Amino acid sequence: MIIDYDYFTVMKKIGLVYSFNGNKTSQVAKRIIEEMKDVPIEAINAETLSEEQFLAFDNLILGVPTWFDGELPNYWDEFGPAIEDLDLKGKCFALYGLGDQVNYSENFLDAVGIMAELLKSRGAKIIGLTSTKGYSFESSKAVTGEKFLGLGIDFENQANKNKERIKLWMKQLQNEFH
Ligand SMILES: Cc1cc2nc3c(=O)[nH]c(=O)nc-3n(C[C@H](O)[C@H](O)[C@H](O)COP(=O)(O)O)c2cc1C
Repeated sequence: MIIDYDYFTVMKKIGLVYSFNGNKTSQVAKRIIEEMKDVPIEAINAETLSEEQFLAFDNLILGVPTWFDGELPNYWDEFGPAIEDLDLKGKCFALYGLGDQVNYSENFLDAVGIMAELLKSRGAKIIGLTSTKGYSFESSKAVTGEKFLGLGIDFENQANKNKERIKLWMKQLQNEFH
């Protein structure tokens, strides 16, 4: 018997990579897992990430908080050189960023922009872009046109919006991942 898998819309397993030690980053990851209950998803610690783990998925969600006045946190910075050597053609990445739009208004969510550029330079596709409406900040490397290159989460100033923002983003990603 020949089974034509084109008849089924089977969602491939998603790799969810974030720092297990990042307090707020982990809280968002837990909500993502809850929202994606019908989709297979594997949580991977960004602090011990290997190239093999990174390449094992076609669909990935990365947790990318901004630290040090507009920089990647150490664990992503350390993995950066590895990414520079990878071929990421055909892979889809969705980035969720954490930042503080009041105290870091000039660097809000910058790390998302830095990571998106790095991934795109290796051939990856960035999905899950969201509107900047509802946020207030001076500048951000995460912005392209009127959109963020991912989802922006601000625990310091807009924690009450987290749940709804994550929920809507998950719906969006289920349509945009391949
Ligand atoms: C020392 C320090 C520097 C920060 N720098 C930035 C920044 O440049 N831009 C920004 O949007 N948020 C910045 N933040 C806010 C963090 O991104 C935010 O608190 C985030 O939720 C941290 O997540 P984590 O604890 O899971 O790593 C900074 C926070 C701290 C404590």
